[in-house]
Amino acid sequence: TIMDIKIVKDKVAGGQAAFAIIQQGIATGAKVLGLATGSTPITLYQEMIKSDLDFRQLTSVNLDEYVGLPYDNPQSYHQFMQDNLFSKKPFKHSYVPEGMAADIDQAAKDYDKIIEANPIDIQILGIGRNGHIGFNEPGTPFDELTHEVRLTESTIEANKRFFADEKDVPRKAISMGIGSIMKSKQIILMAYGSDKADAIQATIEGPVTTHVPASVLQNHANATIIIDEAAASKL
Ligand code: GLP
Repeated sequence: TIMDIKIVKDKVAGGQAAFAIIQQGIATGAKVLGLATGSTPITLYQEMIKSDLDFRQLTSVNLDEYVGLPYDNPQSYHQFMQDNLFSKKPFKHSYVPEGMAADIDQAAKDYDKIIEANPIDIQILGIGRNGHIGFNEPGTPFDELTHEVRLTESTIEANKRFFADEKDVPRKAISMGIGSIMKSKQIILMAYGSDKADAIQATIEGPVTTHVPASVLQNHANATIIIDEAAASKL
């Protein structure tokens, strides 16, 4: 593997390490950031907010969104990005997949055009406990572009803590595909905590397989994995 593995003390140090890469990238011309949701990137977004960097000349393109969840729902990824980054550090344009579109297949095609017009310089990723990236669940072909996804039971289970009831967790999402993610010039995947240890072990040391979507990063020329000791504990 050619992945760069950085083991950090905790998620605050992880956010700082990821921020340093982004700062360097912007200094050398990065114009489009691929952003992610979930608890993992929050420390990075805090570093971005604290910094004196201005993102108003940059574009952001988010990975995914639930299908059918209104954008003002606190759990929608549109709202998450507003709350955790955009309200404090606005970008010139910020794109998030249109999970409320009447025609999700058309929204997916439109999103691919957005990505084509705004090639991603640096893509931020978290990872699901089953190795998913974005909402690309195990079994997703590596060449897929933006598409509608049926969430697995494991992801619904993991995400239900954010909703009043498990039945409120959306069953579908719209996600950038692994094909789109792999076109990014540079990728930073972050993971913290022992419940990510198996996924991280399989991602870094296992075979490149669609059973572990993140293992595809072994084929990327410029991928950095930032993990704390708990997430690194099975390496
Ligand atoms: C969701 C998101 C992923 C994210 C994952 C892990 O399924 N679609 O992009 O990586 O959750 O979330 P967390 O960072 O909260 O562990």
